[in-house]
Amino acid sequence: MTVMVESVKVEEGERPKIMAFDDILPYVGEASRYQWFLFFLLLPFTFVYAFLYFTQFFITLVPNEHWCNVPDLNGWNLTDHEKITLSIPPASREELKVEGATAFSRCNMYDVNYREILKNGTRIADHSWPIKTCQHGWSFNHTMIPYKSIAVELEWVCDRAFLGSAAQSAFFVGSILGGLIFGYIADHYGRIPALVACNSVGFVASVATAFCNSFWSFCLARMVVGTSFDNCFNVLFIIVIEYVGPKYRTLVANMSFGLYFAGAASLLPWIAYWIANWRILSIVTACPMVVAFVGPWIVPESARWYITSGKIDKAIDMLKKFAKVNGKDVKKEVFDEFEKSCKSMIEKDQSHNQYTVLDLFKFPRLARITIMLIIYWLLMVWVFDGHVWNMKLLDPDVFTSFSLASLTELPAAVLLALFLDRWGRRWMGFASMFLCGIFSFIAVATPPGAPTVAMAIIARLGVNIAANIGFQYAAEMLPTVVRAQGVSLIHIIGYLAHIMGPYIIYLADIDASLPLVALGLLSFVHAFLTLGLPETLNQDLPETLQEGNDFGKDQSFWWIPCVASSQMTKKSLRKKKGLSNPAFVGSVQKIDCTRL
Ligand SMILES: *[C@@H]1O[C@H](CO)[C@@H](O)[C@H](O)[C@H]1NC(C)=O
Ligand SMILES: *[C@@H]1O[C@H](CO)[C@@H](O)[C@H](O)[C@H]1NC(C)=O
Repeated sequence: MTVMVESVKVEEGERPKIMAFDDILPYVGEASRYQWFLFFLLLPFTFVYAFLYFTQFFITLVPNEHWCNVPDLNGWNLTDHEKITLSIPPASREELKVEGATAFSRCNMYDVNYREILKNGTRIADHSWPIKTCQHGWSFNHTMIPYKSIAVELEWVCDRAFLGSAAQSAFFVGSILGGLIFGYIADHYGRIPALVACNSVGFVASVATAFCNSFWSFCLARMVVGTSFDNCFNVLFIIVIEYVGPKYRTLVANMSFGLYFAGAASLLPWIAYWIANWRILSIVTACPMVVAFVGPWIVPESARWYITSGKIDKAIDMLKKFAKVNGKDVKKEVFDEFEKSCKSMIEKDQSHNQYTVLDLFKFPRLARITIMLIIYWLLMVWVFDGHVWNMKLLDPDVFTSFSLASLTELPAAVLLALFLDRWGRRWMGFASMFLCGIFSFIAVATPPGAPTVAMAIIARLGVNIAANIGFQYAAEMLPTVVRAQGVSLIHIIGYLAHIMGPYIIYLADIDASLPLVALGLLSFVHAFLTLGLPETLNQDLPETLQEGNDFGKDQSFWWIPCVASSQMTKKSLRKKKGLSNPAFVGSVQKIDCTRL
């Protein structure tokens, strides 16, 4: 349901003109008591979102320093250092190239008879001794990471190190399935059932994760947890955004991300640190999802969903409840007028329904824009995840650096609020990704440790900004008739990038600086790709496929909204007040597979 109409001023005595859902919001209160309540209600669900996204990072964390366990050395009262000196060869040249490498080998030990050697009084290894791979498991240095993760318990190290990433991929495979399943539920049975079902599944599977003892059971549990990723939060997020008046939407969206998400994501490392037990951690991080169980009593169903599914009376009941809580008196004729326009909206919507995502590829220019938007999103997710997982390699004190990197969501939100509507999506997207690329390369060149981490964190700020722009950009550029489906398509393809994201860090096996170099190059590609897209700021949003195809044809490459000649600005300036942000319209509606 996507109808873009400027909101109407409430004037006493005038006959109400209500042509779209947004027009009724001023009558029932657009940023009042009920909306504040909803804004606070977002808090636990933002925690759910951040915890789902990042918890697996902490339950599969492996200390950098690990070495072969040699049972023969036990019982001789040797310290770890003495054991390493006696039984572990120095790291090979390949091993040393890896970021965060240790001086000793992590996967090899000397192949000698230790009892005899110890009896002879030898305490220092002879480098000419033969070498073999670890035979009796590993020992780990838990100074920096004070708990045994599942990856430590099951020893996903050396040639089995990829299992941690494989489990992360399983999680995102789950999220593709979940996107389809819960998207279907949201469209056919309502947003609240989808919200509750999604969080229940996530909760049960997160608790089940705690009882896993093998790679395959862990993968299965994480895949089921993955199904709830995104929708467990998105469904409510969209409901809240819908009920907030258009002019407050960007603010509410940015603030919930800037405050709640930054808070949740930067708190998580410390929760992991203090709990120091991966099983308890996976149960504790599931707790915010419990709030969803009381969801049906505290979360209002989406009135837009009621309207699209033909239950106009229920939508009006819901709006009356808003009016009551917000202390507004609404005349009966307002609702009558609303009901009438709802009916015509439904008819109009049905005429839209004949379109599918495939229509996006029927016009050459629109097809090009769509493909560029998909690549935009893929690269952005890839760079974002790459920077998140790469933190593992950069710094032994991963808790602090992860926490600081997550806090960059806050300045990102502030910068967006200040500049996005002045500089435009295109140049700001370019600038933020360019910044990200530059700082990725500076991070390569700076000495390892704190300086590299600091540079990587600034790079992360850039990709955070680009991520938030991307969310809005696609929705503004795709024509109304296929907007919801197009945005879903882009998001679902984006999960593929999530699935591949964790593997970027394996480039470090070739060369320590390669992950950051790759992230830097991807950022530059992304930045210049952005310049190839049309600007959407202050433009009339395309309605039909033809308009979508012609969108931005007349824009000059160098046009920057904030320094544009006044003529150009005037020509394309649309009434900004009350502009619906299309990013928040219908993005929960997923692709209907049956119509592809
Ligand atoms: C083990 O070694 C430490 C110092 O190397 C020594 O203080 C301690 O008494 C030894 N314990 C035994 C049981 O030999
Ligand atoms: C474990 O790590 C700490 C801190 O990095 C270090 O001081 C200590 O020497 C390490 N222990 C071993 C046995 O390598």
